[in-house]
Amino acid sequence: MSQTETAAVAEATDAAAEAVALADGEASLARAQQRSRQIERQIVQDPSQFRLLTGDRPTGLLHVGHYFGSIVNRIRLQEAGVPTIILIADYQVITDRDGVGPIAQRVMDMVADYLAAGIDPERSTIFTHSAIPALNQLLLPFLSLVTDAELRRNPTVKAELEATGDRPMSGLLLTYPVHQAADILFCKANVVPVGKDQLPHIELTRVIARRFDERYGRSDPSRPVFPQADALLAERAVTILGLDGTKMSKSKGNVIELAMDADTTARLIRKAVTDSDRHIAYDPVNRPAVSNLVNLAALATDRQPEAVAEEIGSAGAGALKRLVIEALNERLRPHRQRRAELVADPGHLRAILAEGNAKANAIADQTLAEVRQAMRMVY
Ligand code: TRP
Repeated sequence: MSQTETAAVAEATDAAAEAVALADGEASLARAQQRSRQIERQIVQDPSQFRLLTGDRPTGLLHVGHYFGSIVNRIRLQEAGVPTIILIADYQVITDRDGVGPIAQRVMDMVADYLAAGIDPERSTIFTHSAIPALNQLLLPFLSLVTDAELRRNPTVKAELEATGDRPMSGLLLTYPVHQAADILFCKANVVPVGKDQLPHIELTRVIARRFDERYGRSDPSRPVFPQADALLAERAVTILGLDGTKMSKSKGNVIELAMDADTTARLIRKAVTDSDRHIAYDPVNRPAVSNLVNLAALATDRQPEAVAEEIGSAGAGALKRLVIEALNERLRPHRQRRAELVADPGHLRAILAEGNAKANAIADQTLAEVRQAMRMVY
């Protein structure tokens, strides 16, 4: 074969591999969607058979995207009776940046937002990575169960690397999906509510649980140390854009944070980008900025975006913005009020987190004891 022929074959092979990966991705998405519907039905019957883990990176204040995209759903599952553990993923902050930033402040702000939103510390556990040594220790045996090729192939890691521009990949960025598996497995969570971008991590978590069982064995012969975790995808995924119709980013100033006051919220929404078509319609593909505003009003009032668009119709973008301001400020008012009360008492917030960390440590110590036993490292 000539060099050009070889190159052509290589290119075709790459394209074929990519097509297979894409088809795999679609198949696993369909599978996860189906499994999610099944889990929702099982939760209604017996929520106690589940343990839910979810988390956020404390890189900034929580905003309306977090609120409508995940927090509302967490509250719903907590209220349905699912035991819930919420991780403030402080070690994950440094996967793709040089410093931790004002981390202590951000962690406390996050605790305040969780509580204000309705996370109940009596029923749910809030904790931080850095306070749980046994969780982090799981990373060592888990790293032995994956190859560097598997990690380099992870589409989420690839996307996150690309998003950091020219930054070289840190060892932590490459291995953070394994750390995330430790987040899920330290507490033997079997349900992880995530967006579809996180599906590769859940799949890796399942692989690690399985390989641990095959390679290192069990502490109790009747069952593996780690369960098989499932992603819980939302029936209707909520994607909220920034107020300029592009991806939300604090540096672009296009984000509405939960902690903002009503006037700031109004000012930002008045400045939001719209388009020249006076007739308001819900058309996320062709009119992302306008549709995003319609969606915000719909989410804030628990309606369908199509119904909101129809109501505004030819009244135009001004009327739409007035509706969004009114709806969002009204919806967030109780949250903001509770939040203000909570941040006025930092000692209380610290106590809640300390309690959560104590509970998480007890769980992690128990799991690590089982891991040591399975690995015959009990001396
Ligand atoms: N990666 C998640 C995010 O960026 C946060 C996270 C860390 C997480 N560990 C987790 C989510 C475990 C679910 C399960 O939002």
